[in-house]
Amino acid sequence: MSADKNSFYVNENALCESQDIGSNTRIWGFTHVMKGAKIGSHCNVGEHVFIENAAVIGNGCTIKNGVAVWNKVVLEDDVFIGPYAVFTNDLVPRSFMKRGEESFLKTVVKQGASIGANATLVCGVTVGEYAMVGAGAVVCKDVPAHSLVVGNPGRIIGKICFCGKLLDLKQWCSTCECFLYKNSKEFAISKITRLEEATGT
Ligand SMILES: CC(C)(COP(=O)(O)OP(=O)(O)OC[C@H]1O[C@@H](n2cnc3c(N)ncnc32)[C@H](O)[C@@H]1OP(=O)(O)O)[C@@H](O)C(=O)NCCC(=O)NCCS
Ligand SMILES: [Zn+2]
Repeated sequence: MSADKNSFYVNENALCESQDIGSNTRIWGFTHVMKGAKIGSHCNVGEHVFIENAAVIGNGCTIKNGVAVWNKVVLEDDVFIGPYAVFTNDLVPRSFMKRGEESFLKTVVKQGASIGANATLVCGVTVGEYAMVGAGAVVCKDVPAHSLVVGNPGRIIGKICFCGKLLDLKQWCSTCECFLYKNSKEFAISKITRLEEATGT
């Protein structure tokens, strides 16, 4: 990660105390990034976001408005966090008992996964690679790779492609025209790009 302040953008209304921010990352207004927080390259951090000092954010992540990324939260590369999604780090909080951060639980969002708007991740969970959490879901268990979880409590309702399309029972994507086991992020991107060019969108 780069320490070159000129290689990333910080809006004049943001407070960015960290230097551990990668190139081409943009940090928008009324966002506070604490000293020590790590953010990779090519990230887009929206407005009214808070990133705590020991939070770790990979490359290519999108964090929409109103999200707090606390200590013990790790976002791997290409993760999408929808607006007002909620992370937690203390499983049994008590205002009158001050427990150290050692007792806090880690939350990991693995590569390429997406968290819908207003979803809540109860701490201690791992959201697997390219999984998707629906808007408003409450995730209290680990989510396997490529799984789609919705509701409260969050339940797996299917498998999802790299492109975001729900797969059929044979794990075939009708958009990519490919089985999941043969598919890849790169193939899905090229397929979607070709489809958009063909339809002029
Ligand atoms: C979960 C999601 C990805 C599913 O989209 P989809 O693949 O088009 O699936 P469908 O809309 O066909 O929904 C499949 C089923 O899940 C239900 N469902 C969809 N989204 C849901 C949600 N967020 N919570 C609960 N149930 C949901 C549907 O009602 C449907 O149920 P049914 O089969 O009983 O009719 C999508 O609805 C969603 O929540 N996306 C996140 C949007 C978001 O937060 N974006 C942030 C950036 S702005
Ligand atoms: Zn697909």
